[in-house]
Amino acid sequence: MVKSASYVPDIKRLKGATDLPLVRLISEVSRSKGRESYIIGGFVRDTLIGRIVKDIDVVTVGSGIELAKDIAKEMGHLEVHVFKNFGTAMIKKGDYELEFVGARKESYRSESRKPIVEDGTVQEDQERRDFTINALGISLNEDYGALVDPFNGLEDLRNGVIRTPLEPDRTYSDDPLRMMRAIRFATQLGFQIEEESFESIKRNAYRISIVSQERITDELNKIILCEVPSIGFKLLDECGLLDIIFPELIRLKGAETRLGIGHKDNFYHTLQVLDNICPHTDDLFLRWAAILHDIAKPATKRFYPETGWTFHGHEVKGARMVPGIFRKMKLPLDSKMKFVQQLVLLHLRPIALTKEEITDSAIRRLLFDAGDDLEALMTLCRADITSKNDHKVKRYLHNYELVLQKLAEVEEKDRLRNWQPPVTGEEIMTYFNLSPCREVGTIKNQIKEAIMDGEISNDREEALGLMKRLGKELGLAPK
Ligand code: CTP
Repeated sequence: MVKSASYVPDIKRLKGATDLPLVRLISEVSRSKGRESYIIGGFVRDTLIGRIVKDIDVVTVGSGIELAKDIAKEMGHLEVHVFKNFGTAMIKKGDYELEFVGARKESYRSESRKPIVEDGTVQEDQERRDFTINALGISLNEDYGALVDPFNGLEDLRNGVIRTPLEPDRTYSDDPLRMMRAIRFATQLGFQIEEESFESIKRNAYRISIVSQERITDELNKIILCEVPSIGFKLLDECGLLDIIFPELIRLKGAETRLGIGHKDNFYHTLQVLDNICPHTDDLFLRWAAILHDIAKPATKRFYPETGWTFHGHEVKGARMVPGIFRKMKLPLDSKMKFVQQLVLLHLRPIALTKEEITDSAIRRLLFDAGDDLEALMTLCRADITSKNDHKVKRYLHNYELVLQKLAEVEEKDRLRNWQPPVTGEEIMTYFNLSPCREVGTIKNQIKEAIMDGEISNDREEALGLMKRLGKELGLAPK
């Protein structure tokens, strides 16, 4: 893996941070109160590698809340948000979020989810951090602007290494979420996890179960939003974490062969589809649809000696699996979930159309069923074209282009996106003087079918004409 050139650290960049009036003011107030304070964590790391960050974490010896109050006063009596349970305080200043905390030691004990927190020195505070690159500090004291780097974090940043400040077993056991964070940073920054650390993750993977699902999913989503998420998924798989947090995905693994007929490994195929979709969308849930599009393949896999492997109905079963996975992952159970379900359900449709001649009727039905999600569906479909066989890829791509073209043509002609019936149920009832009944549904449905099949156009006059004819056939008379 090559470290991205844009993430080469440069110590000169620190000046940009220490020249910020906001940072100067924090330092002045801290010093005037006789405090020892530092900026530690993500802000320092990201400043060094040239990433823009607006979250500044200030660590001070003594009460972070008190210092926050003094600084807020100096900034024109800004509001201080105090989180007593965590001993932290937050001030919003323009785009910046300033967080203040007293230097501390903190650890998770055995099976408990609740950390034990005690006051500590700055060195102890840096020691208890997850990675050397996240333990870097900027002094806000007499030596204003000096880099405080007790664990050679700058060197690791330069070499693209994720390393824990202490012995890795200890750091990961203090907070097992850090195992996922290691993989997330490796994926985001293109860094390598130092070998001993990765071995420790393998040993400690089972301890992820004491971490709340919300925190796990948060990290997983950050991996999914990376440029090449497969890097993270492969690491999660290799260390055993994926098996615990997402066993449904692991079940896609393996390429079975019978009677000399094989099928593709759907785990690696899925990761490929996910990577393929990333340059085309930053939408987390479209990326989730890529992850879940074939999720029911193991459950629907069959082998027929004459025809080989089939995964018949995996799109329907897959769509049904989505709510369970979302619930377990604590992902939102709202329109976002429906969107993913809809895409999983429809993901075969565009390409399936090309097996026979692409009829206008099939295109109309796709437009109708996909509605607003058509672009997302086509993006997924394009990403789903993976094969080792170049000839196959070429053929599928050609078909995909044909469907796109047809969709555009039919849409322009028939305006079927977000289709609303040209005659409503209400109108049918009024015309024939009916209360709600089966006939109303029948007429409505037949009008829709006639439009989809191209027997009449998507037009109110033609639909009214058909309504009258159908009513007559059903023995209904106008009011
Ligand atoms: N930290 C830690 N262990 C954790 C979470 C955070 O040691 N499980 C420390 C790290 O020093 C980290 C800092 O707290 O840099 C701030 O945490 P957070 O805001 O979650 O992460 P960032 O490093 O700022 O990175 P990002 O915003 O990308 O999550």
